[in-house]
Amino acid sequence: QYEIYATGLFSGAVPQLPTDLSQLEAAVAAHLAPGPYGYVAGSAGDGKTAAANRRALDRYEIVPRMLRDVGSRDLSTELFGKKLSSPLALAPIGVQSIVHPDAETAAAKAAAAQQVPFVLSSASSTPMEQVAEAMGDAERWFQLYWPKDPEVTKSFLKRAKDSGYRVLVVTLDTFILAWRPRDLDQAYLPFLRGVGTANYFSDPAFQAGLDKPVEEDPQAAVGHFIQMFNDPTKTWENLPFLRENWDGPIVLKGIQHPDDARLAADAGMDGIVVSNHGGRQVNGAIGSVDALPGIVDAVGDHLEILFDSGIRTGDDIAKALALGARGVLLGRPYVYGLALDGQVGVEHVIRCILAEFELTLALSGHSTPSSLTRSDLRG
Ligand code: FNR
Repeated sequence: QYEIYATGLFSGAVPQLPTDLSQLEAAVAAHLAPGPYGYVAGSAGDGKTAAANRRALDRYEIVPRMLRDVGSRDLSTELFGKKLSSPLALAPIGVQSIVHPDAETAAAKAAAAQQVPFVLSSASSTPMEQVAEAMGDAERWFQLYWPKDPEVTKSFLKRAKDSGYRVLVVTLDTFILAWRPRDLDQAYLPFLRGVGTANYFSDPAFQAGLDKPVEEDPQAAVGHFIQMFNDPTKTWENLPFLRENWDGPIVLKGIQHPDDARLAADAGMDGIVVSNHGGRQVNGAIGSVDALPGIVDAVGDHLEILFDSGIRTGDDIAKALALGARGVLLGRPYVYGLALDGQVGVEHVIRCILAEFELTLALSGHSTPSSLTRSDLRG
């Protein structure tokens, strides 16, 4: 990761995009139309919870330790039985063709090139098989929005398995879309490229439920999708269905309450993502990192705990790990990189945040992510 640092200091060659990732959002605001920009940057309601995510992370501060021989560092981390090169993964983000024509394929290739797992959204604008092919044998996970129709669910799980997605991430917090004023005020769907080839619409079981093919009546297909894409009636009792139809690790995304974390453990899940969907669902909910310590205390010995919502810098990663997360998912920042410069932009974001994480880790007195503990933080 030192390469970025050294190159930047000597020649300034790297920063075609800013290395201070906090500047990316403003660059994207200037680059995209308001609809697509609002889709990515926006959140639920008046944005209280998106702001709380940041505030909660900023409230924790690292207390660095000295003279601890950090000459040889290793960011590698085991997640769900596989050794990965760092504790970072790219979060599932739907319909990426809204911000760049290369969409998920570019983001997935960037993840593969940087050896970071890519979590493909159910709501991908690219069929999962095509994304898998672009990734070769790189680590990929599939995120499920759990459809109402069990046949569609089974079809998704089979397609994901057949195309080499190893971990299933089931998102629980978005069984309906929240009140998102920016999306309501500024349409973004007109920017979606190729509805007919989107992951959902190209699914044979989904198509079987349509009266007319997608190309003939795209509006009816979108209506059917909205009815079907998720299900507000599901309960913890439904989880065995997933186990019966998926033989790899299952991770529940969107957990904020320790009791739900316990229910996930009781249901035999492999992991959870402590997440509030980047503040896009329950406005007025707590900052996601404030949910983390209580959940780690409740189930840290039973489940692998990942964290997302608000991660923007290398020190944010260190804080989440110090509070007991095994790994973190990065959301909006990589989509900003995608919007600005396709695959190159996503790789830039991954390299910068990992470089900053490694430096922060070392300068705080640690050689490995796993040695971070709560005593490294104040807050
Ligand atoms: C999301 N997120 C999301 N989650 C999911 O499970 N499936 C999805 O399709 C999407 N789509 C999506 C679109 C956009 C534009 C955003 C910003 C987010 C949530 C995502 O996986 C993650 O939880 C948050 O983005 C994390 O917060 P930060 O890093 O964006 O603050």
